[in-house]
Amino acid sequence: TRVAVIFGGRSTEHSVSCVSAASVLANVDPDRFEVVPVGITPQGRWVLGPGDPATLALTGRELPSLSTDLVAVNQVDTLAEVDVVFPLLHGAFGEDGTIQGLLELAGVPYVGAGVLSSAVVMDKEYTKKLLAAEGLPIGAYEVLRPNVRTLSGGQKDRLGLPVFVKPARAGSSYGISKVTSWDELDGAIAFARAVDPKVIIEAMVVGREIECGVLEFPDGRTEASLPSEVRISADFEYYDFEAKYLDDALELDIPAKIGDAAIESVRALSVRAFQAMDGQGLARVDFFVRPDGELVINELNTMPGFTPSSAFPKMWAVTGVDYQSLVTILLETAVA
Ligand code: DAL
Ligand code: MG
Repeated sequence: TRVAVIFGGRSTEHSVSCVSAASVLANVDPDRFEVVPVGITPQGRWVLGPGDPATLALTGRELPSLSTDLVAVNQVDTLAEVDVVFPLLHGAFGEDGTIQGLLELAGVPYVGAGVLSSAVVMDKEYTKKLLAAEGLPIGAYEVLRPNVRTLSGGQKDRLGLPVFVKPARAGSSYGISKVTSWDELDGAIAFARAVDPKVIIEAMVVGREIECGVLEFPDGRTEASLPSEVRISADFEYYDFEAKYLDDALELDIPAKIGDAAIESVRALSVRAFQAMDGQGLARVDFFVRPDGELVINELNTMPGFTPSSAFPKMWAVTGVDYQSLVTILLETAVA
């Protein structure tokens, strides 16, 4: 089976995708799959990936980016030559339904969510609306559409402080700030708007940060992994980009030490959230657990990180699906 692993891309998460690709490319079963690494440069050019995937890994604090010297390839020809695509792209033009649309047009099976699910889950506003419509627990939020400058007094009262100000469609904590005084709000909105003109403002949920992996198997079964708890060192206000990838500040407890009943609730809610989003293939569902045990769904990711510090492959490993088997399941489900 010929597999194109497509990575990089035009989003703010270009580098994160390269780091994910270094890990995935090292974990494709060579006896079953022939891999064509296809990079997308930050400018959007399709290139044949580097011969040595290790060059895509993170070295110290240096973020990788695809070299523009790589040989350009034609999109249509590339897709015509493979049996399945692994769109290992995070963020805009990758995780948002756009490349999924291209792959649908080309008639090539691909790993993960389809057009609708990708587009909805990329957008934190519509994710919350659909979760709420299914009766799933979410936190308080307000949306600032591109033509709306800031929150009204009533909206501020409703949310309370602190709030998190986020681009509605981004990942890896790009453009996010925590606001603890309303004086900081307009600066935080401008920072988020540099990534996405639509901004979402969320009331801070006080609680522990829990993540759970959802995986669809080739026979159609959908299962949730053991959840993990994200613990970051006290130097960080929240789980930001540096903590996620650069600073070794991260510890994952897998399984999360929240008790068996809460673990089972997280797993059940994760599968329900995945289904509410019309999910396919995989997703990571991110939660908060309040001190009283109440669960709140923060967001989903239809193409979660596969970097060495990412939770998704680690949670599956502890659940009994090692990295290579995970990649095999993703590819086999895509073609099933
Ligand atoms: N958006 C990043 C890659 C994640 O959710 O893991
Ligand atoms: Mg998250």
